[in-house]
Amino acid sequence: MNVRFDPAYRLRGRLRPPSDKSISHRAALIAAMASEPVQIRNHLDAQDTRSTLTAIQQLGAVVEPRDDELVVRGGGLRNANMPTGAIHVGNAGTLMRLLPGWLSFQIGASFTLDGDESIRRRPVDRIAEPLRRMGAGIEARDGRFPPFTIHGAALQGIEYELPVASAQVKSCLLLAGLTTDATTVLEPVATRDHTERLLLRARAPVSRQTIKNGGHRIMIRNADELELDAIDVPADPSSAAFLIAAGALVSGSRLVLEGVGVNWTRVGFIRILERMGAIVLSELEPEGSFSEWEPVADIDVRHGPLEGTAVSAEEVPLAIDELPLVALVGCFAQGETVVSGAGELRVKESDRIATVVDGLRSLGGDVEALPDGFVVRGTGGLRGGRLDAAGDHRLALLGAVAGLASAEGVEVVGMEAADVSYPRFAEDVARLAG
Ligand code: S3P
Repeated sequence: MNVRFDPAYRLRGRLRPPSDKSISHRAALIAAMASEPVQIRNHLDAQDTRSTLTAIQQLGAVVEPRDDELVVRGGGLRNANMPTGAIHVGNAGTLMRLLPGWLSFQIGASFTLDGDESIRRRPVDRIAEPLRRMGAGIEARDGRFPPFTIHGAALQGIEYELPVASAQVKSCLLLAGLTTDATTVLEPVATRDHTERLLLRARAPVSRQTIKNGGHRIMIRNADELELDAIDVPADPSSAAFLIAAGALVSGSRLVLEGVGVNWTRVGFIRILERMGAIVLSELEPEGSFSEWEPVADIDVRHGPLEGTAVSAEEVPLAIDELPLVALVGCFAQGETVVSGAGELRVKESDRIATVVDGLRSLGGDVEALPDGFVVRGTGGLRGGRLDAAGDHRLALLGAVAGLASAEGVEVVGMEAADVSYPRFAEDVARLAG
């Protein structure tokens, strides 16, 4: 589906962006692992999170929609049922990498996971290797890609330093660690910590120490069961980021985004934008905080002049999904914007270094790829044109925002990709544009 986004005169108003995708995946999974029913309020209804609901149902959980909430009745930690066919994760990398943590300790059971074309290009060796060390059996296509099969076993605890800064890998190992004497995951730099927070909330024995460079040592031990009653999912800072960028780029704009999650491990993009001179008013959670709650705030954005900036490797995991937007904003800023230490972008839903660079160039941007990032020379704006979403939701949304802020508008080829995280983007923007 091709959708045209014309230059906006200005964007004004208030709205609540869609609910958090990362937290919705985790809430459904952890609810399925809990012994008592769990109410999930404001669960995200999008393609990716539907894949997770289908997966937990296949594994024996009952999911009941009730007004604007879901009730999940799981069978407990050790009761995942073997499904008749493969578990299809669709486009959801988070489901693909977190679910095996739970499946790996279903003693004697085997589970095969597969997904769409994009998922089949995304590496799973990063979870297979440590899960094997814990005792699970894993077979993957070419040793590292889906489809892959997990053979559950009694697990032993490990101490594991993440070779890539990945919240998905960390989360997988923490879930697997729930049946071990002690499992420790070392993350050299901080990554999103929603799994730790939810596990803490579910009374699991999880603790965390801060190490140098702001990284963490996270410890987890055996839990008999998980106890949770209700989870409230905040609005997604990664989806909000598209509206924040639009508000910062379209002149005369003033937006208030309500109820957005401002967990410090997720708001790197807001900090980068502030450094570029954007006016983004909000009460962000102080860096280093850790509690069982997810902080929430309203975010007030206004258009203003912008300057280029450099994004360092430690900041990358805190803004990983928003780095394409940093490139877009860089096109409108004065001077150079450089992102480095972000090689992980190459193994996202698309190779986001290649697709962002090609996409922005096709709209008139002066952008160059680096092996682990990009350099953008700001030219004060973008002409517009056509951008192919390459099946990647964040690229489709990037094209849409580029259109609103461009001189001539942008036609996004494959806008349906946005359904993965933000199905009603076009309607939200139409409302804000009046
Ligand atoms: C996610 C973690 C990040 C992010 C992805 C969601 C999560 O991936 O890019 O969109 O929910 O844990 P990595 O952990 O692979 O960096």
